Amino acid sequence: MTWEQLEGRCRECRKCALCQTRTNLVFGTGNRQADILFVGEAPGEQEDLKGIPFVGPAGQLLDLYLEAVGISREQVYIANILKCRPPRNRDPLPEEQDACMGYLREQVKLIRPKMIVCLGRISAMRLIKPDFKITKEHGILQKKGDFVMTAVYHPSALLRDASKKEDMYRDMKRIRMYLDEYVGR
Ligand code: URA
Repeated sequence: MTWEQLEGRCRECRKCALCQTRTNLVFGTGNRQADILFVGEAPGEQEDLKGIPFVGPAGQLLDLYLEAVGISREQVYIANILKCRPPRNRDPLPEEQDACMGYLREQVKLIRPKMIVCLGRISAMRLIKPDFKITKEHGILQKKGDFVMTAVYHPSALLRDASKKEDMYRDMKRIRMYLDEYVGR
């Protein structure tokens, strides 16, 4: 499947009800040859209005961490488990995640990243393991199939609890070190 075909399928998707309440599809953005793919949970209000992931307050904080460790947003690809915003930013339902996961899988096949970074608990539980404990297991790098996978705190969690920011910085530095050592950037 090509990028254009995949985006077209997402645009026409009627597998769950979120397409009826969204403003825009939030397909994903960034470098289609990225070594590193960040996966969040679902679009929020600003993302829904603009059609681009992580452009609201959480996204601005993510940008600061990327900048702090010397990774540019142009260098990475950013997507979400869900491509449409859940009303009032409620957690994605399991059936919505099931309906949408195939699109993320196709994105992964097209990008073939070396590393996948889950942003937050929902993404980590879906992509790493169902009982993933973000407070205990954030920042741990593990090989899973063709990728190295890890999870960091969701930037929204850092906005609610500033005491997590130190851990986030440490985890992001570890990601940068992995890229430098093993991917050669
Ligand atoms: N939170 C997410 O998980 N994804 C976005 O795109 C924005 C906020």
